[in-house]
Amino acid sequence: MAFLIDGKKISSEIKEELREKVARMKAEGIEITLAVIQVGQDPASSVYVGNKKKACEYVGIRSLSYGLEENVTQEELLSLIDELNGREDVNGILVQLPLPAHISEESVLERISPLKDVDAFHPVNVGALCIGKPGFVSCTPAGVIELLKRSGIEIEGKECVVVGRSNIVGKPMALLLLRENGTVTIAHSRTRNLQEVTKRADILVVAVGKPKMITREYVKEGAVVIDVGIHRTPGSKKLYGDVDFEDVEPVCSAITPVPGGVGPMTIAMLMHNCVESVELQKRQVV
Ligand code: GUN
Repeated sequence: MAFLIDGKKISSEIKEELREKVARMKAEGIEITLAVIQVGQDPASSVYVGNKKKACEYVGIRSLSYGLEENVTQEELLSLIDELNGREDVNGILVQLPLPAHISEESVLERISPLKDVDAFHPVNVGALCIGKPGFVSCTPAGVIELLKRSGIEIEGKECVVVGRSNIVGKPMALLLLRENGTVTIAHSRTRNLQEVTKRADILVVAVGKPKMITREYVKEGAVVIDVGIHRTPGSKKLYGDVDFEDVEPVCSAITPVPGGVGPMTIAMLMHNCVESVELQKRQVV
């Protein structure tokens, strides 16, 4: 039986630690504020935004909500970001993705001040991670590192294979594993002999966006398997990852379930970034 890496428990511990830290900061007169912008009413985005606001409330972070109409212009959205960038009482700015097709995601994300970019999608923060400078780290990959560390899984010197090369997960994931002194390979849709590559992994992180794609043929005996995927089957509430859990679990040493693995970590790390923003802004380091 593989060890089950419990993201629900670990994310609760992190939120509890942050709640205590935020209370100490409040006692020193420091209040943290996150501005959350949602364009339109995509139901999945509304659930994510709602969960982020709930987490803020739990941890003691003030959240400001901006619900903009689906047909808002790019200029209007950019001018709201400019206003929030200029407000001293706003520490973090988050624009929920995806945005409607008439708005350039790139232009919007690049408009957020790197010092308030708690999602860490701005090129300045991505670059800072790449060269080892201080800055915000993307929430989901940062959550994976926390899962490994808090489960006592050493990264240093290990063969780490990341499947997927997205800007939001795959690339920052590889950089973070490298920062922890892992030996890192990024595999992707054009990788030849994918099974041979993934079978080298001591730590296999899967973020491909294909339900149950990773079966035991891709996994070395005793590997640690981290599943970043999340898929809902139409007409059912059941969630699946990118890993075929039932097939892989018997051959690995530790594995994250879906749900309850990586998923809950993203919001915990967003809360972490909001707390971190105060320090980064004080030092003006991003
Ligand atoms: N949409 C899906 N995931 C995310 C996320 O982590 N941040 C934002 N802003 N939007 C998302």
